[in-house]
Amino acid sequence: MYQEIIQAYQALVAGETDFIARCAQLCALLFERLPDVNWVGFYYYKESQLVLGPFQGKVACMRIPVNKGVCGKAFSDQKMLIVDDVHQFDGHIACDTQSESEIVIPLIKDKQGIGVLDIDSPRKARFAQHDADCLQKLVDILLI
Ligand code: SME
Repeated sequence: MYQEIIQAYQALVAGETDFIARCAQLCALLFERLPDVNWVGFYYYKESQLVLGPFQGKVACMRIPVNKGVCGKAFSDQKMLIVDDVHQFDGHIACDTQSESEIVIPLIKDKQGIGVLDIDSPRKARFAQHDADCLQKLVDILLI
């Protein structure tokens, strides 16, 4: 499944240099193709906070301090974070009450953290190492 998503994404954004457009397409593609996902979106590092970017799903919090939530932790550690049960994560910020598990992939360009890709699922322990690996590939394409 991811192989198809990767191919589709490469074809969609080939020749497109606008970063927001590339993010928006990835977000829509993942929301459409990934099973058991209720929110997909970007937060960008601006004014010392994470600020909401393109997303699919329910309306979400617009600003996240970098020391808060799953997004803030993944961003400040510059490390992908998989949370099997968001209710057990200290400081989790609940935007959609349906969310049970979450994966956050930091966006790192020229060694600088510029934001995160955040994906929520209504199923506990939805994200495994395979998701992490494939989502990292997609983020690598996004950041080319
Ligand atoms: N749950 C995230 C906040 C963003 S929403 O899931 C869209 C967090 O704890 O950082």
